[in-house]
Amino acid sequence: MEITMIAALDEVGGLGKAGRMPWHCPADLRQFQAYTMEKLLLMGRKTAEPLRRRLSGRQLIIQSRTVKDPDFPVVRTVNEALAWMVEHPEYDELVIGGGGEIYALWLPYAAHLRISRIAGRFDCDTFFPKWDPQEWICRKQSEEDGFLLEEWDRTKRIITR
Ligand SMILES: NC(=O)c1ccc[n+]([C@@H]2O[C@H](COP(=O)([O-])OP(=O)(O)OC[C@H]3O[C@@H](n4cnc5c(N)ncnc54)[C@H](OP(=O)(O)O)[C@@H]3O)[C@@H](O)[C@H]2O)c1
Repeated sequence: MEITMIAALDEVGGLGKAGRMPWHCPADLRQFQAYTMEKLLLMGRKTAEPLRRRLSGRQLIIQSRTVKDPDFPVVRTVNEALAWMVEHPEYDELVIGGGGEIYALWLPYAAHLRISRIAGRFDCDTFFPKWDPQEWICRKQSEEDGFLLEEWDRTKRIITR
């Protein structure tokens, strides 16, 4: 089971402001759609709430300590999410779709980062966690329509249970 984190970052690692992404980059939303389709997508409660009805074609898992959702599995901990995955071997990749708290929680477990670099600074209030460039290698970089797409792989062994 591979764990990939997918995120769009401004020039200073900003992810969002006042609960939303403060830029308009349709090509990035399209690549997010395409990459996550048919996959297992885990999001924090704050990111999932406004999007949960618009993520058809993916299996959404919500991470929360407080809510129950009749329509989607809710996990409280990383271990609960990993246990859910073991029970659903039809999925071979878990995609972490944010936001800031959830990226920080899952970074030690991720083997891949799929990062969209958005030009500019957007006065964000939520940031992607810092990652150690010595532990990661940028395998691919491509200029897309309005953003730069980077694909990073972890070079060191990740935390295992
Ligand atoms: N640029 C991007 O690619 C991107 C992607 C996603 C989101 N975003 C942005 O990120 C912002 C939202 O991020 P955020 O950090 O505020 O919230 P978040 O990570 O989406 O969700 C936070 C919630 O997740 C749950 N949670 C966090 N840590 C947990 C843990 N250790 N165990 C169990 N549950 C845990 C808690 O839910 P409960 O309070 O219910 O317990 C917490 O309130 C928005 O601005 C959004 O637009 C940007």
